[in-house]
Amino acid sequence: MKDKFYLTTPIYYPSDKLHIGHTYCTVATDTIARYHRLRGEDVMFLTGTDEHGQKIETKAKEAGVTPKQFVDNIVEGPRGVKDLWKLMNISNDRFIRTTDDYHVSAIQKIFKRMYENGDIYKGTYQGKYCTPCESFWTESQLVDGKCPDCGREVTDAQEEAYFFRLSKYADKIRDLLEHTDFLQPQSRVNEMVKNFLDPGLEDLCVSRTSFTWGVPVDFDPGHVVYVWVDALSNYITALGYENDRYHDYGHYWPADVHIVGKEIVRFHAIIWPAMLMSLGEPLPKHVFGHGWLLLDGGKMSKSKGNVVDPYILAEKFGVDALRFFLMRTFPFGTDGSFSNEALIQTINTDLANDLGNLVSRTTAMVGKYFGGKLPAGCGPTPGEKKLAEKTRNRADNCFATTILAEDPTRQPDFELVAQAAGLRKTYEAMMDGLAPHKALEEVFKLIQRANKYIDENKPWILAKDLEANGPRLAHVMYNLLEATRICGILLTPFMPESMEKLFAQIGAPAEVQTWESAAEWGSLPDTAQPTKGENLFPRIDMEKELKELEAMEQAAQAAAAPQEAPAAQEPVQPEFITIDDFAKVKFVTAKVLACEAVPKSKKLLKFSLDCGEGAPRQILSGIHEYYEPETLVGKTVVACVNLKPRKMMGLESNGMLISAVKEEDGGEKLHLLMLDDAIPAGYELC
Ligand code: MSP
Repeated sequence: MKDKFYLTTPIYYPSDKLHIGHTYCTVATDTIARYHRLRGEDVMFLTGTDEHGQKIETKAKEAGVTPKQFVDNIVEGPRGVKDLWKLMNISNDRFIRTTDDYHVSAIQKIFKRMYENGDIYKGTYQGKYCTPCESFWTESQLVDGKCPDCGREVTDAQEEAYFFRLSKYADKIRDLLEHTDFLQPQSRVNEMVKNFLDPGLEDLCVSRTSFTWGVPVDFDPGHVVYVWVDALSNYITALGYENDRYHDYGHYWPADVHIVGKEIVRFHAIIWPAMLMSLGEPLPKHVFGHGWLLLDGGKMSKSKGNVVDPYILAEKFGVDALRFFLMRTFPFGTDGSFSNEALIQTINTDLANDLGNLVSRTTAMVGKYFGGKLPAGCGPTPGEKKLAEKTRNRADNCFATTILAEDPTRQPDFELVAQAAGLRKTYEAMMDGLAPHKALEEVFKLIQRANKYIDENKPWILAKDLEANGPRLAHVMYNLLEATRICGILLTPFMPESMEKLFAQIGAPAEVQTWESAAEWGSLPDTAQPTKGENLFPRIDMEKELKELEAMEQAAQAAAAPQEAPAAQEPVQPEFITIDDFAKVKFVTAKVLACEAVPKSKKLLKFSLDCGEGAPRQILSGIHEYYEPETLVGKTVVACVNLKPRKMMGLESNGMLISAVKEEDGGEKLHLLMLDDAIPAGYELC
């Protein structure tokens, strides 16, 4: 039977659109999930959204919509949570929303069970409450009188409430944290002990009466369940605990790991195990508290206005490049500073220079010297096979020296083979230890070794006398392809789509893309037929892209500002414009003279239009996914021509083309408004 592996991300607050910090956490969990699937395990990867609480109730009110409409828009709406995970190629097996009916009724049962077993009792809450964090604090926990998590003001709160006997579990929790490997990394254990256990655990207020957007306590109307009790339970309700929607609680629980950001470790490492102890259920095996991505030295947050939009970065540089950057640059477990410069630098150095060059040089050389087909028999020598076999299960290449004694001139070959054959073992230890950044470091050591191997062997010199050096040259090529294949397998959890392309380029069939074959040097058939394809990771012009990024981020922020209220919602009062407002907008008929894709943009098309103005007008429109540019030449469309010009991807756009959006095939499709050929260009619409 396959090993099971259940892992989770925190469920996200849909109070604002998600930023790169949230993306970091989910990409990391996805990478780990993909790693376990690569190993053939039975993986359950859960993510979702945590949709109740006062903050959402307040935001919805401000937006003039119901809380459910508000969260629906951010979770399911355009560029919302689900869209972002789809874009980032997140492979979650399940998505829970805490407003799902099955979850709500399960929470009522969970709350009642803890009440009935005496762990929840009624009392009066008096203390401090941080609304944005949905957290209660005691006076002694405040830092300078403010919320210790976010530094914002807290308010006095007093109300009749239910309490959970957290204090009863204090010793057991201390034991769990101090004497097991439940919480990782160790620094988080120290934080929990110093900040929460040493001062003494107090009972926790677990119901509220001052707002209604939550799961009602069914046996005491007027109370809603504290949002963290509701949220934490998602990890079991999503498997069918106290509900009939799912039926795999017995199979997947306990979770192998909950991956969470450091500020919510307290909830996962203290409150959650205490709740499970109260329910008599097994505890998750591990909680891992990762660090934050910082911007300008502080945590990203919408309210501070220092967020980075993952959509912009993914669309500009590619999803895999962004995923890779997040995992390669920041040690998982400590804070790291995000910057666009670091992103571009990593793409250029690791992906374009090291990996991209290795693939393109090798495949190009096989094409040039062997017409794209290596001669049979160029695979591993008996010595290399022996070396690989011995090195496979060791993290070092100590056998290389023994074998080298047989033939000292083959040092580069032996080094490459030993490093490649031992890589999976080292990588596995790093991934199992939740250190994906270290696993990547190891993979890149091999990539760098392979590039050095090219320089050492100077294939272009060998190729000058193919008759004499042909077999050696073919063997060098084989070794390069084989090292690349092993790296490709181990990079698949990080960059799934790009690695598919890599395998196609080096000619590696599916059966040698497996976890098993990553430790089998010589698996690639010696008759593999590599083909030089598109550049996997094009080099980025740092200066130019930085400028463009800045402009795009500013434009996105400006565009988002007036739309604080979600776009799909019904305004409470319809907003009318006057006829004079309407008359300000100038629409004209425009004939498409030329149309082409904007380089490096997936969406933008550049139009040259005859608007009856004597000279052609340039307009950019983000419709490439709906139209091939050449099909639009000669068409008559409608353009708004008095819109303020703006630059996109360094090109000026002088207006906007008008289109209609239509629901089609389960998605939205955009149709340019086109006119009959009989209508000439340059006519104003009124
Ligand atoms: N809803 C709670 C989680 C409930 S889990 C039972 C929550 N949601 S959140 O949307 O605010 O945060 C979700 C995750 O994103 C947290 O793990 C948080 O640490 C992470 N991040 C938010 N900003 C981040 C950074 N700037 N950097 C890294 N991770 C960050 O908390």
